[in-house]
Amino acid sequence: MQTKQAYIETFGCQMNDRDSEIMGQLLEQAGYSLIDNRENAALIVVNTCSIRGKAEQKAMSLLGGLRKAKKLNPDLIVAVTGCVAQQEGEKLQERMPHIDLVVGPQNIYQLPRLIDTVRSSSKPSTAIEQTDNFLIPSFLPNLESPHSSPFRRFVTIMQGCNNFCTYCVVPHTRGREVSRSPRDILAEVNHLITKGVKEITLLGQNVNSYGLDRRSKGENYPDFPNLLRMVASTDGLIRIRFTTSNPKDLSRSLMNCFIDLPKLCPHFHLPVQSGSDRILKKMNRKYTVASYLDLVAELRTIRPDITLTTDIIVGFPGETDEDFEGTMQLLEKIRYHGAFSFKYSDRPHTVSAGFSDKVAEEVKSERLSRLQERQKQITLERNSEFVGQVLEVMVESQEQNTRGQWCGRSAGNLIVNFTGGTNPRQGELYNILIEKECLHSLRGLIQQQEGV
Ligand code: SAH
Ligand code: SF4
Ligand code: F3S
Repeated sequence: MQTKQAYIETFGCQMNDRDSEIMGQLLEQAGYSLIDNRENAALIVVNTCSIRGKAEQKAMSLLGGLRKAKKLNPDLIVAVTGCVAQQEGEKLQERMPHIDLVVGPQNIYQLPRLIDTVRSSSKPSTAIEQTDNFLIPSFLPNLESPHSSPFRRFVTIMQGCNNFCTYCVVPHTRGREVSRSPRDILAEVNHLITKGVKEITLLGQNVNSYGLDRRSKGENYPDFPNLLRMVASTDGLIRIRFTTSNPKDLSRSLMNCFIDLPKLCPHFHLPVQSGSDRILKKMNRKYTVASYLDLVAELRTIRPDITLTTDIIVGFPGETDEDFEGTMQLLEKIRYHGAFSFKYSDRPHTVSAGFSDKVAEEVKSERLSRLQERQKQITLERNSEFVGQVLEVMVESQEQNTRGQWCGRSAGNLIVNFTGGTNPRQGELYNILIEKECLHSLRGLIQQQEGV
């Protein structure tokens, strides 16, 4: 029998990337082979993101384009998963009858069975139930996954979010926080290590509240710093990272992990969103600019070499010029190594979508480009601070690029392109003397291989 071919297109965050890996693996177990292009696929899965209007539009336009493919090949199965699937449910199929299956993030584990049902009944189907008692199935990743690095992987430690920031769709699409058991997390970490993985990023929308949902039910779950300690004590692991952290829950005990755990990489992504207390309050972020600055000062005292990155929204409803100046001043005070910045966009079911004082599109665009211009300069200045330093870099590339450079990543999460040495090995650490800064990377020269 000829194997059926499946293609998965992924939009959105690392959690969606991980979900796509899981779906790919389930499909392979069900007899599909994964392919890199849509043309020959018998099944197309579009794993969507809804975080901003643009993300949703991208997925919708890809889905719209599949109408023709379905006409040419009526046996093609089109499945939509991810946050747009959860948000829109059956409405997607009303708008686009060529969609066979809509599956929410908690239902992806049943994907092969759902596809079989659609095939045998030839009727469109929807599976978007969410429950607060959801148990994340234990799932050991497949290392042969074509789109994932063989030595750098993501492990989901929790799903959902309870924070309800007023602009954010995630609590509506991913449901309440559900923590995975430390047993399952450690089993997955150990499995990855035996397969040669060296770096693990623990994933959750707000990892700081890991275990709270379980502890509140009387279960004996560790908090996030203790989970980090458990993961760090696993032999064979070289680097640990985590993402993301809401500043409101950043504890001293998590900061201390940066002192005690040498494997924990000195990089902190700490989304600030705005430099105005008034706007932070309207966003329901539950911290102030002053308390955020205190956290940054403490982190930098504990780990002076820590790199800091952030997320910023400009043009939140009611954001005045003065509020925006507050955000610009915050950039000067903190001097982040990098910032992801976005124009505010209304999302379904969110509180802020109902606010009446929306900021004009041109104003949002102006503010965004001013902020991005300034941040570019700061990033370059920050990157120039590494020139002359020797950084420990884990090699990511298998081959040299056209300029004869190898590529790796520093502990502080900077991309480092370097020359010298003969065939540095993927997943291993090398000392690199940094010679030049660029906007998105550093350039350097290999010194000597560690541990040789
Ligand atoms: N859980 C993370 C954020 C995940 S979403 C946290 O709490 O920090 C990633 C980023 O998308 C957010 O930090 C925010 O900057 C941006 N974002 C979310 N909703 C948005 C919206 N409605 N408009 C514009 N940007 C948004
Ligand atoms: Fe969204 Fe806020 Fe939850 Fe982050 S913490 S996912 S921004 S609601
Ligand atoms: Fe997007 Fe959903 Fe992730 S909205 S950012 S795919 S949790």
